[in-house]
This record gives sequence, structure tokens and C-alpha cells, in this order.
Amino acid sequence: MKTNGNTVLITGGATGIGLALAEEFARAGSEVIVCGRTEETLKQAKQKLPSLHTRICNIAKESDRDDLYEWAVANFKNLNILVNNAGIQRMIDFKKGTADLLRHRAEDGEDEVEVNLRAPVYLTALFTPHLMKQKESAIINVSSGLAFYPMPELPVYCATKAAVHSFSQTLRQQLEGTTVRVFELIPPMVDTNLDKGARKARGQTYFGLSTAEFIVPVMKAFANNEFEIRVQDPKLSAMRGGPS
Ligand SMILES: NC(=O)c1ccc[n+]([C@@H]2O[C@H](COP(=O)([O-])OP(=O)(O)OC[C@H]3O[C@@H](n4cnc5c(N)ncnc54)[C@H](OP(=O)(O)O)[C@@H]3O)[C@@H](O)[C@H]2O)c1
Repeated sequence: MKTNGNTVLITGGATGIGLALAEEFARAGSEVIVCGRTEETLKQAKQKLPSLHTRICNIAKESDRDDLYEWAVANFKNLNILVNNAGIQRMIDFKKGTADLLRHRAEDGEDEVEVNLRAPVYLTALFTPHLMKQKESAIINVSSGLAFYPMPELPVYCATKAAVHSFSQTLRQQLEGTTVRVFELIPPMVDTNLDKGARKARGQTYFGLSTAEFIVPVMKAFANNEFEIRVQDPKLSAMRGGPS
């Protein structure tokens, strides 16, 4: 997949891994659009990368997803890459019954299944017919190493990421013979604000690769058409005695 001359939409692209992808695609000569819920964060991303197009969108809401699609295809007719990147991660202890499971929804209206799974599935359905009209196009789903090495503290997160892995596999098969290539980006631990400080609270002292370290092999892998992109972190592998 060429990394230049694309028009790329990245959900959750104003921070962390999404922003690193936005910067690399823009640097390589692609037009980049990012969306997220927080106006201030989108503004900060645009200050950092003035060429960026931004859009407020809560992908947990079906009406917002529909609006994002209508707006994006109306304003960016050449849009040819959808990156399903936005995600949330919450610690949930099932020994507490429904308390933890419902707490996040009550506190901030967030639901991991909605954001991490239902939204990328729905956005994929919305955008695929448009992407099929482009000469060369891609869907990039961001799953996680935790899809393969689940962590007991994060049962729902791990389940959603395992589902994104499975979805990416079947989607890749279904879209064979079309112009749409399906990539799965499988990050190891990357130092972002994904966990909202939970890693530190768990007593962790290592927070993973920086986004700058992470993004270099990722862009090479896109260019080489590696459809399942597993980035290893040697430091983490050594700490765990296995792959990161
Ligand atoms: N960091 C890691 O160690 C790691 C490892 C494996 C996989 N991943 C995956 O990588 C992806 C990016 O995460 P990150 O580490 O870069 O964390 P991050 O910086 O927290 O990025 C997540 C982004 O998603 C956006 N987002 C969250 N909920 C949203 C919603 N309902 N609607 C629209 N945007 C929403 C956030 O923006 P707003 O809050 O402003 O909406 C934020 O910009 C996620 O899918 C994550 O699961 C991360």
C-alpha cells in the first residue's frame, strides 16, 4: 500500500497512536482527517499538524457515525483509507458483579464494546462501498497484542480486541478481489494515555514503546503490504519471557 497521495480518516487520531499515524501519513504526502470527542484535543492536534482536518464525533453514537460518513465522503471524495483506531480501555472486576461494568457507563457514558467493536464494525459497513470505488484503498483496524495474550484486569477490552482480530480476518477474505485491502495493526504496549493512569496505579514502572519508536516499523509494514502488523517490543518480551 502506498503511504503517499492518500486521503486518510483516522478515528481517535488527535492523540497517541492515531496522531502518530496522522503525522506519518501527512509527512509522506497524504491528506489526513482525524475525529474525536474532545474539541480541545482536536485543536491541539491541529496546532501540532496544521494541515490536519478535524471533526468532532463520538463514534459510540450511531447518529455521529452516520454524520461522520456523510460529511467525510461529501468533503473528501478521494478518501481511500479508513483507520479504525479510537479505543478505550477499562479495568473491570467481575467479582464485584455489575458494579465495575456499569460504573464507566454511569461516570462517562463509555462502553468498551460500543467503542472498540460495534463502532469499527459499523464504520466499516458505512465506508466500504465508497472505498470500493477508489483505485487503491484500505481499512486499517487497530487491535492489540492483548487480543492474543489477554490480561485478567482487562477482560472486556481483551475480548473486544480479539473480536477485532477475527473481524479483520474475515473482512480481508470477504474483500478479496476488490480494491480494498484490510490491515490489522497489533500494537504492543505503547506509552499513551489509553489507560488513564491505570498502569501506574497497578504499580507498573515500564509503559512501553514511545509512539515515535512504534510508528517506524508500522509505516514500513504498510508499504510492504504486511496485512497483520505485529510490532514487538524487545524490552517487554524480555520482561515477560515471551512475545510482547
Ligand atoms: N497504547 C497501547 O498500549 C495500546 C496497545 C494496543 C492497542 N492500542 C489501541 O490503539 C488505539 C489507540 O489508542 P492510544 O493508545 O493511542 O490511546 P489514546 O491516546 O487514548 O487514543 C484513543 C483515542 O480515541 C479517541 N476516542 C475514545 N473514545 C472515542 C469515541 N467514543 N469517539 C471518538 N473518539 C474516541 C480519544 O479521543 P477523545 O477522548 O477526545 O474522544 C483518543 O484520541 C486504541 O484502539 C487502543 O486500544 C493501544
